[in-house]
Amino acid sequence: MSVAAILLAAGSGERLGASVPKAFVELDGRSLLEHVVLTLHDHDPPLGILVVVPGDIDDRLTPGAFRATDQDMVISKTGGPTRQASVASGLEAVADLWRPDIVICHDVARPLAPRWLFADVLAAVKDADGAVPAIPVTDTIKRVDDDRVTETLERDQLVAVQTPQAFRFEALRDAHERAERDGVEATDDAALLERAGYRVVIVPGDPHNIKITRPEDLRMASFLRGLDD
Ligand code: C5P
Repeated sequence: MSVAAILLAAGSGERLGASVPKAFVELDGRSLLEHVVLTLHDHDPPLGILVVVPGDIDDRLTPGAFRATDQDMVISKTGGPTRQASVASGLEAVADLWRPDIVICHDVARPLAPRWLFADVLAAVKDADGAVPAIPVTDTIKRVDDDRVTETLERDQLVAVQTPQAFRFEALRDAHERAERDGVEATDDAALLERAGYRVVIVPGDPHNIKITRPEDLRMASFLRGLDD
């Protein structure tokens, strides 16, 4: 089973107040991208790693990530205007480079994703088209229309989903092509498989695998790293 990973690193650092793309913001002395690449160091099975960065990236930002890896890694300056567009461009590059059986999509904005989580989604996708990490929702979730509550959702049926997400390569490609044809935009790749009728399963996620969005998330991530050491 051949596996490739697409690391999504083409988002802006705007909400973080950063002058560099978010993936190149530092957490405890390393960029978010370096943290992810170090997690994938010496991965078994070996991975082709494609990093999707913005087209106008400053080339001085990328060598650190290369130093952090012993894997086959390619930087692709094909980031699109949305996450979905960045994944779609990554899929084309991965098809040309490795044409793997399985592809893992991971947001570099989640630098604390542990190695075991990559292993768990890879194991689970063997019996499905997609496998995603999920954690139970503890808050009560409501649907609203402006400031008016219109519905309270059944919490037992809700989970919060993270990356890394693993997919059969051909299923993910097909799901992206259909979404593009239908003009559909989603915030994760699993959603595109679901709407195309593919089987996506969940594995237990990691509560420490937070997404870096605002400056305080960096402080929280640094704290969580201390706990995990
Ligand atoms: O902006 P947000 O945090 O939701 O982005 C999730 C992930 O997708 C991040 O790792 C970001 O770098 C990536 N992304 C991308 N291309 C975009 C927007 C986001 O690769 N146009």
